[in-house]
Amino acid sequence: MDAETPRDLGENEMLGSARCPGDGWIDLMEADSREVPAFLKTEHYEYLGSDPISTERYWHPDFATAENAKLWPYVWQFAAREEELPEPGDYVVFENAGRSYLLVRQEDGAVRAFHNVCLHRGRKLRTESGWASEFTCPFHGFSWKPNGELSNIPCRWDFQHLEDDKMKLPEASVGRWGGYIFVREADEGPALEEYLHPIPTHFKRWKHEECVTTAWVAKVVPANWKATMEAFMESYHAYVTHPQLMPFHGDANASYHVWGDHVNASWSLFGVISPHLDPTNKSQQWIVDEFERYNGRTADNFDASAQVHVEVPEGLTARRAVGEVARLSYAKLYDQDFSDVSDSELMDALVYNVFPNFSLWGGFTPSIIYHWKPGPDPDHCIMEVRILTRMRPDQPMPRCVPRKFLGLDEKWTDAPELGVLGDVFEQDNGNLPYVQQGLKASVTGQIQLGNYQEIRVRHFENTIDKYLNR
Ligand code: FES
Ligand SMILES: [Fe+2]
Repeated sequence: MDAETPRDLGENEMLGSARCPGDGWIDLMEADSREVPAFLKTEHYEYLGSDPISTERYWHPDFATAENAKLWPYVWQFAAREEELPEPGDYVVFENAGRSYLLVRQEDGAVRAFHNVCLHRGRKLRTESGWASEFTCPFHGFSWKPNGELSNIPCRWDFQHLEDDKMKLPEASVGRWGGYIFVREADEGPALEEYLHPIPTHFKRWKHEECVTTAWVAKVVPANWKATMEAFMESYHAYVTHPQLMPFHGDANASYHVWGDHVNASWSLFGVISPHLDPTNKSQQWIVDEFERYNGRTADNFDASAQVHVEVPEGLTARRAVGEVARLSYAKLYDQDFSDVSDSELMDALVYNVFPNFSLWGGFTPSIIYHWKPGPDPDHCIMEVRILTRMRPDQPMPRCVPRKFLGLDEKWTDAPELGVLGDVFEQDNGNLPYVQQGLKASVTGQIQLGNYQEIRVRHFENTIDKYLNR
């Protein structure tokens, strides 16, 4: 039976239990040339029902208003990476869903997040990230210290009604893990480590705190933030939207996992032929050649000039051959011992999402981060992509590169620093405006989801409902 053949459920089989025939995730974890971490051999799928999803949630202004009131203030939001504000006095302006924050590095290395609004007549204190010894408002000159305490009010005689300790900048909670800085407006809910579970455990090996942002591109996308994010939560679309990946991407054999309300993951196989393709007469070398041509992640650290060509020795699979070469070239590149690192951690797409709008890639390949933020209306969003590069132990951590901002009419391929990813995102972008238009035009008012491959979409939409219905 091939990937296209429908199958009747067996007598004792449950909805959500069907899987694509062929070598699945667990089979390839068992066949890895190294022992993979135990969690990569564990299933965390949960069947969450098969009900359709309403289209209104993607475009109705009332739904966006409800998200602003009941969702965003209560969740941990990825706001910055540590390398954006390494020195005391460095600050980052982080804005989302109508709020604006100043993340400020303190003298003791802590990071505090203040609402970036002057308490006089409401001007934003800062509009760009930078360094400051004080935050003086450009309108009338009220100023605050980096710890949020009031510093000065010009013509103080006219403000005798204001007490200093009631004029501190309002503050949000800050959580830090793995080089990532999160903010949460409300002072309630789970601690960050609990919220991120099991990411801190899984990423212990992959050490994102030793990585820095070396490419950072944002783009305005004419689609709702959830619709855009959900286009990156399954490998199901790859066969039709990204056909060039099929020679080396086990798309339909990807595995999908959910944990609690806030984390899910897809683990997607690379270095194997898609179950959608006929493997007859396809050599292992062909798989590798296509992988190098269209994926570019054999060992290149997103530096095309460092791309390593892989020759598949007789008797070896493409996956093992790429693993062998990546293991050696990463060891050289990062001056670390990779000899016990599995093939999976060197080439698979181990993509985790943190509710509501943040995604990070695990493994030892250069990590990719996605971040989606609502735009000024429900029909637009801003998608940000970063490449994290692993540093050698003897290298000083460089500062974060500046963000490149692409407008509505620019293309992901206008950011050459994204390499072949730019082409892949342009293919996704070919769908998104028409997804948004279709969701609004829909006469059924519903969309349907696959029970397995689209479980992450349902999981996060369910969690949104949990927040909105609290
Ligand atoms: S609005 Fe900031 S000092 Fe007046
Ligand atoms: Fe895609």
